[in-house]
Amino acid sequence: MMRFSIFASGTGSNFEAIVQAVDDGVINGEIACLFCDVADAYVIERAKKHHIPYILLEKKSKETKKKYEKKIVGLLDAYEVTCIILAGYMKILGPTLLQSFPQRIVNIHPSLLPEFPGKQGILDAYQAGVKKTGITIHLVDNGIDTGPIMYQESLPIYPTGTLEELEERVHQLEHSVYPKIIAKFLEGERENDDKKASVD
Ligand code: GRF
Repeated sequence: MMRFSIFASGTGSNFEAIVQAVDDGVINGEIACLFCDVADAYVIERAKKHHIPYILLEKKSKETKKKYEKKIVGLLDAYEVTCIILAGYMKILGPTLLQSFPQRIVNIHPSLLPEFPGKQGILDAYQAGVKKTGITIHLVDNGIDTGPIMYQESLPIYPTGTLEELEERVHQLEHSVYPKIIAKFLEGERENDDKKASVD
């Protein structure tokens, strides 16, 4: 069984959808812990409600990213985490985390990357007046919302639609699709581990 950690900084509606998918058996894996970097993030309430262990660790303002991430890696090791699923985690990952989990960190972004990377993918697409946007699920590398794309799905932007209505549809799509892609990813990683074990 693959043990993974979900990283989130905010509301955690994707966290909730992933928890549900594990409960329903859609995802064959175990949520080792939630990692959260924001003390008052609502996602922590969700973890408590579902009795999922959580780590809350805010970065001290003078602390280097390297030092902060070394602490995180140490904590994740204690939880025997092998993969990381980002779900609204707002910090850019540095080399310490990336090298500790090579090709094993997945992110979801609310736009059709490489269009509209960054913190407000939905708003940027809406304001740009494009006819469609969507979601992208990708492996994380050292760029901002770059890294090999695993899955994309598009949505129309209606000329008379509001921003709120678009946000609603983007999030619904995220919640229905992200758990399925995570399930496939974990399955692939489990097979890789099995192959390695049989060679050793
Ligand atoms: C989602 O739109 C996700 O694509 C982006 O951050 C948002 C997180 O929302 N990376 P939530 O906290 O899961 O509700």
